[in-house]
Amino acid sequence: MPDSARPRHTHTVLIGLMGCGKSTIGRELSRRTGHALLDTDALIEEQTGLTIPELFERHGEAHFRRLETALLRYLHEEEPGVPYVISTGGGIITRPENRRLLRGLGFVVWLHAPVAVLVQRTAHTGNRPLLQGTDPEGKLARLLREREAFYRETAHWALDVSRPGIREAAELVDEAARAFFSGGAA
Ligand code: S3P
Repeated sequence: MPDSARPRHTHTVLIGLMGCGKSTIGRELSRRTGHALLDTDALIEEQTGLTIPELFERHGEAHFRRLETALLRYLHEEEPGVPYVISTGGGIITRPENRRLLRGLGFVVWLHAPVAVLVQRTAHTGNRPLLQGTDPEGKLARLLREREAFYRETAHWALDVSRPGIREAAELVDEAARAFFSGGAA
């Protein structure tokens, strides 16, 4: 993946479409490494006192994207120090500034899976405004088409999460992160 510049921070950052397992794999990775988990959606909900669906409904997606950028700027400007596991909202890579900031936060991992797998994993959850209504499969397929190049451009490494379980996926990310930060190829 492009650009070999070392990031400013040493976090492990999980990106990918809704349903790829960023939160669950992030939790497992946090447990495994002892690094605190930061979830950008959860932080924004805490900060605003609104759920993601409420934020979208009251203020619109563009406002939510501005909050994501503000949070990334804040994390980027922190003094480099303790590493975190950071799980992100699926659309955080849509803004060019965010893609640059994410890469500066550490080792960025794109978790991906075929749309059919994502559909299964997002079924029965009502907390994703962009998947509401009919045809969630069509919506996820369109988002993947629109975003795939952004995920690739932002990530240092990619993992197909359709096969490994949560533990194995976390182990694979952990190994790749260690290799990345010790200067080896991930
Ligand atoms: C979004 C993904 C969601 C959340 C918001 C928008 C997206 O996060 O940030 O609903 O644009 O793909 P998850 O990927 O954690 O579901």
